[in-house]
Amino acid sequence: MGYKVAVVGATGNVGREMLNILDERKFPADEVVALASRRSVGVEVSYGDRTLKVKALEHYDFADVDICLMSAGGTVSKEWSPKIGAAGAVVIDNSSAWRMDPDVPLIVPEVNADAAAGFTKKHIIANPNCSTAQLVVALKPLHDKAHIKRVVVSTYQSVSGAGKDAMDELFSQTKAVYTNDELVNKKFPKRIAFNVIPHIDVFMEDGFTKEEWKMMAETKKILDPKIKLTATCVRVPVFVGHSEAVNVEFEQPITADEAREILRRAPGCLVIDKQEPGGYATPYEAAGEDATYISRIREDATVENGLAFWCVSDNLRKGAALNAIQIAEVLINRKLITAKKKAA
Ligand SMILES: NC(=O)c1ccc[n+]([C@@H]2O[C@H](COP(=O)([O-])OP(=O)(O)OC[C@H]3O[C@@H](n4cnc5c(N)ncnc54)[C@H](OP(=O)(O)O)[C@@H]3O)[C@@H](O)[C@H]2O)c1
Repeated sequence: MGYKVAVVGATGNVGREMLNILDERKFPADEVVALASRRSVGVEVSYGDRTLKVKALEHYDFADVDICLMSAGGTVSKEWSPKIGAAGAVVIDNSSAWRMDPDVPLIVPEVNADAAAGFTKKHIIANPNCSTAQLVVALKPLHDKAHIKRVVVSTYQSVSGAGKDAMDELFSQTKAVYTNDELVNKKFPKRIAFNVIPHIDVFMEDGFTKEEWKMMAETKKILDPKIKLTATCVRVPVFVGHSEAVNVEFEQPITADEAREILRRAPGCLVIDKQEPGGYATPYEAAGEDATYISRIREDATVENGLAFWCVSDNLRKGAALNAIQIAEVLINRKLITAKKKAA
């Protein structure tokens, strides 16, 4: 018997990608339901070669749902995830609402799949922030080899990370530049077309932004609380694919060649590092792909046991939808959940 899967936020960037990936990976679902806000009732979304009509979250009965893939933002998740969990489904949530809750596992399957078993307390599992997901996939195998002390990361984050309206804003501003029309900023505090913005999410008291804080706190929860991490998160005018310039200081020595070999064998990683023009990955190539691409691996002689590298991934896939579905696969493959009996 297959599973009944609800996708909440099915009209959004992440929700649509979830439906694609469920189909691509032949996820063992007998039924998939697409849910969103009242505004989208009746809207059609694709699930493989099928079309699903969107239903309203607020009127949906989750009694026979096994897995709920949630990507409708923090406010919706705070209200709905506990109710859906209480109805017996496992909620895998993409928002930041539950990530730091000690009773909710925060999972990147390549890194800490074992922690998924802890979902039973609240029936909720959290997916990390998109920038954190790709970073920990690359850091984990290096940490296992040489123990990371400190990470300095600068991000170059695409507009799709801020939702579908943000993609429309980059498109319409770019068009307006060429047609000499007025540029309107709604989703971003400054124009994003032909610009970069060193600010993602709200500012915190210490001057860091919440996005930067999330990378630090989530890396500790997923990988190792002893790792020190400092981040600068920047929005760039790219539609899909987040890039990161990463500088790591290790306890033990590790050469660039060793790191390259370790990353070549590591799950979820794909090394493209030819050290010649074009011999590295960019977000354009990563879009639509599952891997975390790693390039420009080199020793950093300015610190003891230092390495620098470049890391790129599709933020809607590994940063959100793919990671959530991989978590669901962990639950199934490890027999942590079984499909509920459905009414005939
Ligand atoms: N984009 C990324 O790279 C990324 C990565 C990691 C995590 N996330 C997180 O994933 C979530 C969704 O992101 P997104 O990029 O897909 O956003 P999005 O494109 O703006 O889509 C938002 C989705 O939420 C639905 N929604 C909004 N209010 C709702 C309500 N009251 N009840 C039910 N559904 C409601 C929307 O439905 P309507 O169309 O009906 O309004 C839409 O389907 C956010 O929490 C985001 O932080 C995103």
